[in-house]
Parts: sequence; C-alpha cells; structure tokens
Amino acid sequence: MPTRIVHKESLIPGTTSKLVLDAPQIASTAKPGHFVMLRIDEQGERIPLTIADTDKEQGTITIVYLVMGKSTAALENLKQGDSILDVCGPLGRATHIEKQGTVICVGGGTGIAAMHHIAKGHHRIGNRVVGIIGARSKNLLLFEKELSSFADELLISTDDGSYGHKGFVTELLQQRLAADKSVFEVVAVGPVPMMAAVAKTTQPFGVKTTVSLNSIMVDGIGMCGACRVTVGGETKFACVDGPEFDGQLVDFAELRRRLGAYRSQETLSLEQYRCQCHG
Ligand SMILES: Cc1cc2nc3c(=O)[nH]c(=O)nc-3n(C[C@H](O)[C@H](O)[C@H](O)COP(=O)(O)OP(=O)(O)OC[C@H]3O[C@@H](n4cnc5c(N)ncnc54)[C@H](O)[C@@H]3O)c2cc1C
Ligand code: FES
Repeated sequence: MPTRIVHKESLIPGTTSKLVLDAPQIASTAKPGHFVMLRIDEQGERIPLTIADTDKEQGTITIVYLVMGKSTAALENLKQGDSILDVCGPLGRATHIEKQGTVICVGGGTGIAAMHHIAKGHHRIGNRVVGIIGARSKNLLLFEKELSSFADELLISTDDGSYGHKGFVTELLQQRLAADKSVFEVVAVGPVPMMAAVAKTTQPFGVKTTVSLNSIMVDGIGMCGACRVTVGGETKFACVDGPEFDGQLVDFAELRRRLGAYRSQETLSLEQYRCQCHG
C-alpha cells in the first residue's frame, strides 16, 4: 500500500532531507537499529534506509537520507503529501540494549540520524548516553538539537574547526575513553572509513564496539546475498544477521570494495535520470 509523506524537511539544502512517513504498522513494532526497504515507484529499485525515529501515537516513522544517486534523487523530488509505492519493514535485527551504565554513541554525516534512534533507546532504558557527532563543517551537522534533548553529554567535532573540536570524532572518542573507564560500549554509525577508525580507536581499550553496516542490499530479507559481509572470518548477511556487528571483527576493506562495485552503472543511471527530469 502506498505510504504518504506526512512531513518533509530539508536538513542540508540539496543533499540531505528528513521524511516523516505515515506507517502505523511499522511504527508500532520498530525498534532502534531497524531499517526499511523502500521502492518509490514501479520502475524503482528497492533501497534500505534506517528508521531514525518513530512516533507510535501518530503512527509515523522518520527517515533521513543523503542524495547519493538515482533513487535518493527521486526521493528528493517527492513533496510533502506525495506517496512512496512500498515501504517494507521493520527489517534487520534491533540493537541489543540493556541497562549497563555509560554508552558512547558516535555518529558521522547522515549516520548521526540513525545513531540518534539507538542513543534514544539507551537513554530510555536508563543508560548514561555520551554522544559524539562529527561532520566536515558546521552547516553539515545533523540532529544536534534532537540529541541535546536527551544525551547526558554531547561532544562535537568538525573537520574544518567551524564548530566544536577541530578534527575527527575519533580524537574526541580517544580522549573520552582514556578519561572514563566506566564506558561499557561504543556504538558507531556513519561512513565506512569512520566506523573502521572508531574500531581501531577502541581496540586498545578493549571496549565492546558495535558498528552498523550499510552494505548494498537488494531484497533486505536474506534471500539474494547482495549484502554479504565478512565478520570474524565468517560470511554474514547484513540484512538479517545485522546490520549491527562487532566492529573489531568486520572486514571493512571488503565492505568498501563491495560498496563501490557498481559505481560506473550508478553514475550512468543518475545521469540518465537527471536528463529525463530536465526534459
Ligand atoms: C541497513 C542500511 C541502512 C541505511 N540507512 C541509510 C540512511 O538512513 N540514510 C542514507 O542516506 N543512506 C542509508 N543507507 C545507504 C542507502 O541505502 C544508499 O545511499 C542508497 O541505496 C543509494 O541509492 P541511490 O540510487 O540513491 O544511489 P546509487 O547511485 O545507486 O548508489 C550510490 C552508493 O550508495 C550505495 N548503494 C547503492 N545501492 C544500494 C543499496 N541497494 N543498498 C545499500 N547501499 C546502496 C553504494 O555504496 C553506491 O555506490 C543505508 C544502507 C543500509 C544497508
Ligand atoms: S539484501 Fe539480500 S540477502 Fe541481504
């Protein structure tokens, strides 16, 4: 059944938007860590997007996307009140959340929105949440207000120093871990190089590190094998075994290679779509 866009908000003009979707069935069961597969129209491919928030009373879910190629460009062309052909979910395994003490939630780029839902889950169960978020520049930072509303601490970094610490989230993480031995887990969601760097940073501290993998997905239900990742030397399907895994065990180099496997076709597909749109 088509899913209506109740609210659309541009977070970073031209590149990143937030959609609130009327999806009461998904909202009633979705937990932090879950994602949806959506297909915009009959000709569209299915793409995975993380559920960044839910409102069970309103029956809505929130997704935040970065315009990367054809499907996200087509999503960006939809307006508030338009519908998406299918939205299937919640999919994947929910984040393992139990009351244990202090958790550090690290988010980079669009991953901050996905991390927000996980951080909120930890807050709701009574864990002390330290958020660390980063972007290239201040104007590219997402969800600062949303995270500030519940995080016990929020540390910010920008690559160019336009806001917060000048440098990477991993520098703030390293300082925080060195100063605080009570942290029971670090969760990281963001670009693959960032998650790999987070795992490298936490390794000497021996703290549990969870990363959310964004491998290419086709069906999202464990049937096609497109989302294959190697974790601890074993093959896993990110859509049904994840998307969250132990960061120390993930083969990030393989993940990066597989994410780039269709780049030339994706570039062509986006060019053709833009030509169609411009007539
Ligand atoms: C579990 C999961 C959750 C995700 N959550 C978010 C999110 O909340 N916000 C967000 O902006 N992005 C998210 N992504 C990535 C998002 O799915 C891709 O950016 C999107 O599919 C790109 O499609 P496109 O046609 O616009 O770009 P394309 O030009 O087709 O691809 C651009 C790049 O996106 C990746 N990609 C392409 N197709 C897929 C696919 N079917 N599945 C996964 N990655 C793909 C590849 O790295 C590719 O090089 C998530 C991915 C996964 C696996
Ligand atoms: S997307 Fe097909 S098996 Fe995971």
